[in-house]
Amino acid sequence: MLIFEQSQAGRSGLNVKPVAIPATDLPSDALRTSKIGLPDVSELQVVRHYTRLSQKNFSIDTQFYPLGSCTMKYNPKVCHTLANLPEFASAHPLADASFHQGWMACLYDLQQILKTVTGMDGISLTPAAGAQGEFAGVAMIKAYHQARGEGEQRNEILVPDAAHGTNPASAVMCGFKVKEIPSNADGDVDLEQLQHSLSDKTAGIMLTNPSTLGVFERQITEISAMVHQVGGLLYYDGANLNAILAKVRPREMGFDIVHINLHKTFSTPHGGGGPGAGPVGVVKALMPFLPVPMVDYNGEEYTWITEQQHPQTIGRLTTFAGNSGILLRAYIYARLLGGEGMTRVAEFSCLNANYLMVKLQQAGFDLAFPERRASHECIVTLKRQAKEFGVHTIDFAKRLLDYNYHAPTTYFPLLVPECLLIEPTETETKQEIDGFINALITINNEAKQQPKIVKNAPYHLPVKRLDEVKAARELDIVWTIKNS
Ligand SMILES: Cc1ncc(COP(=O)(O)O)c(C=O)c1O
Repeated sequence: MLIFEQSQAGRSGLNVKPVAIPATDLPSDALRTSKIGLPDVSELQVVRHYTRLSQKNFSIDTQFYPLGSCTMKYNPKVCHTLANLPEFASAHPLADASFHQGWMACLYDLQQILKTVTGMDGISLTPAAGAQGEFAGVAMIKAYHQARGEGEQRNEILVPDAAHGTNPASAVMCGFKVKEIPSNADGDVDLEQLQHSLSDKTAGIMLTNPSTLGVFERQITEISAMVHQVGGLLYYDGANLNAILAKVRPREMGFDIVHINLHKTFSTPHGGGGPGAGPVGVVKALMPFLPVPMVDYNGEEYTWITEQQHPQTIGRLTTFAGNSGILLRAYIYARLLGGEGMTRVAEFSCLNANYLMVKLQQAGFDLAFPERRASHECIVTLKRQAKEFGVHTIDFAKRLLDYNYHAPTTYFPLLVPECLLIEPTETETKQEIDGFINALITINNEAKQQPKIVKNAPYHLPVKRLDEVKAARELDIVWTIKNS
């Protein structure tokens, strides 16, 4: 067996050499007693196997993926190509900063860009997903109150009922009690209930704006004043930042802390909760608590800000500087867009969602908030179809696959029964969006006339109706010749 050991010789830490470990040095229960049952196949067979597998899969490179809240948008190939340059890809995180000035310049620039778009005073890029950014943000809320001697007393975080599940989860992980605030019939926060829940125990409120109900919270300045009035802080869940990019900044709405899901706004890959990137930003008063490392620039060279320079930090979320490959992709994308492109992101994400929403409404679909203009995503409720034809959201979702469209987000937000949360994103064409609308209209007609067709879908995929809950709970990924 070979393991790799870092050589002492290179200052860069880049030199690694293989070291052979005799089998006798390994614990006996770790030793194999029979031959590995690897299939005996040629290269050509392997290539064909994996190519076929990749073609069976739905992916953003091949299909429209209108997942509301979980945004899947195209990932420009140039971002991958540049992030894969050997100077970036083979950089060793332990190497001296003098070897990494180019890479650090990119990270520093990204910090500056994110400051500009959020209005925050300080940014740390290290959280490896939106949810980890939330955890970091709430940990900073805690550290801020503790530093002011109010850590014990301020033990409540307010979270609207429309929030993504990771919001209350992050608050609980940081030791807070969560108080849920109801939304009103228009999808805004119920201000009366909010007032009722605020007290000197309030550490902060976590808000997504536009919210996961697909509408912009119109009372945000009132909410900000109310929460600040009792000494609480405002946390901005930046999952939906693409809807307001270069139009309004979280800081201007009164937020003190923000996380940004780079995979949602800056078009980086989103691999089911990671590996992503969820940088956090804060106003001046919270800067001492930002997670490390960050990049600093003194006009001549880039240096790492670590625990030594930043003693009140909440610490590290990832061992090194976060998912730097993802950060580089986001940086390249942001530079490609520039300020003008970012304005178009907000305009097209909202235009596309509103176009889709109005077309679906005209075709007879029920909207969750028919009186509101959508932000970058909209919600259709299939409550009527479920009642009249026995065809549920899950059936629509499965049937869409037969029409070659990935389903939108289903059954989230929980507040809206039988819902489809649809986000066309700013990167899709009208033609693609029209195709998706037509598929939904066709399925709606099928649901009325031959509900069984929709209820038994999909028909055209390698696997039919799966028990997804069972698949998640009893994962079976063993390869067999029969299955291949
Ligand atoms: C509103 C909202 N907040 C937070 C998150 C968590 O982000 P991540 O998936 O990057 O952990 C999501 C994810 O979809 C979300 O939609």
